[in-house]
Amino acid sequence: MFDLVLRGGTVLDGTGRAGFSADIAVKDGRIAAIGNLSRAKSHESVDVDGLVIAPGFIDTHSHDDRYVLSDPDVPAKISQGITTVVTGNCGISLAPALAGKRALAPLDILGDSQDFRFERFVHYIEALDATPAAVNVYPLVGLTTLRVREVATLDAPAQSTEITNMRRLCEEALSAGALGVSIGTFYPPASAATADEIVAVLEPLRQFGGMLATHLRDETDYVIDSIDEALEIAKKLSARLIISHHKVAGVSNHGRSPETLAHIARAAIKQPVAMDVYPYAASSTTLRYERVVISTATYVTSSGALPQYDGWNLIDIACALECSIKEAVDRLQPARATYRLMSESDVDAIVSSSQSMIATDGLPHDRCPHPRLWGAFPRVLAAYVREKAALTLPAAIHKMTGLSARQFGLKDRGEIAIEKWADLCVFDSATVADRATVEHPTQAATGIEHVLVNGVFALKKGKQTGRHGGRRVLPSECAFRSPPRAKR
Ligand code: ZN
Ligand code: CU
Repeated sequence: MFDLVLRGGTVLDGTGRAGFSADIAVKDGRIAAIGNLSRAKSHESVDVDGLVIAPGFIDTHSHDDRYVLSDPDVPAKISQGITTVVTGNCGISLAPALAGKRALAPLDILGDSQDFRFERFVHYIEALDATPAAVNVYPLVGLTTLRVREVATLDAPAQSTEITNMRRLCEEALSAGALGVSIGTFYPPASAATADEIVAVLEPLRQFGGMLATHLRDETDYVIDSIDEALEIAKKLSARLIISHHKVAGVSNHGRSPETLAHIARAAIKQPVAMDVYPYAASSTTLRYERVVISTATYVTSSGALPQYDGWNLIDIACALECSIKEAVDRLQPARATYRLMSESDVDAIVSSSQSMIATDGLPHDRCPHPRLWGAFPRVLAAYVREKAALTLPAAIHKMTGLSARQFGLKDRGEIAIEKWADLCVFDSATVADRATVEHPTQAATGIEHVLVNGVFALKKGKQTGRHGGRRVLPSECAFRSPPRAKR
């Protein structure tokens, strides 16, 4: 007797191969049977005739560290079919706490200083386990968080005792259940960290295994040098490298994606490296004048000082304040923004590349967030599969599921196969589409019918159920983590 049978759908199993008609049975949270199950008995049966059944989508780059706790329905993610989120990206993790330091930018994308309330990484892990969200969580620990906590002079390389302290915290986090580390040398204060400092602090990765995700030091003129620096750091640590939200930014770099993609493809022959991407030509991060000047448009997504301008174009804000753009940037702080600084053809090339995985990079606590937070995955299905025909549907699904699971070592997720966890997204391939826009950034996608996480409906007939079937991904479920050492 099964718990559930989904009847009559077209299965895209996440491997990239073509769809096939099959029923899918779920028992005890896992996929129990695939095929013609018309005679099978089950407690519940749902007709999904005419719909696609895919593995739940894996958001390989999120900033949901606090969101999964503060809003465990995680509507921005569940509504677009996401069932697993990788947290702690760009060097920014909610734990460990900052030991009395302020949550400076960019840490403030996760909340205020008091939101960094987990004294040790293990306390964050315990909170995830005690109050599961609707999605699964794959936690990383962020080097910038460790640096803000431990380093006295943040605009200089760390001292040797500070490096020792950070290394100990890194080891603690990995041993508590972080599945890897992220770095974000683009942003001050992490930009003062040298490659040697990073390698010294992340030394425990060598012993524990795990991912190294990086927001490159530079995604503009020096993007190739920055990729090389990240490859070198990963090589020294024997870590698998993820290049986060790959892009070539700034008008003078438009058209360079063939160069960066070829460079990464060549590197991938020698060492494990992968990349994620969000399908938009605008980026989003802290409000910085250097970014404003290389962008063709800047919209403020969240301002601490002048929240009445959230969602406004920066030019209009400067007009309203009767000041220069530069002064407006200063007066809005602390603030974040979206920047139009990529070319559509570069974004198309990176999204369509067989190397890239799809991610949102969404900022869930912004009042007027970049639309990628609510729309990235359906946008790939609508714009890249249906409208531009740049990807086949099985290839697009693979980039959201099977490929991501393989790159992040998720042994039991990302594909529809017997015994895998029943993370499933059932959608209408003819109508699925993002609806989040710059003007209306928090509109849920259309065409996503049902979402199951570990066999539990998080979304049913397009409605959030309020059930929280998510789990934390354990080190033992990650292929790249070393087995725990025997306790002495
Ligand atoms: Zn980033
Ligand atoms: Cu990010």
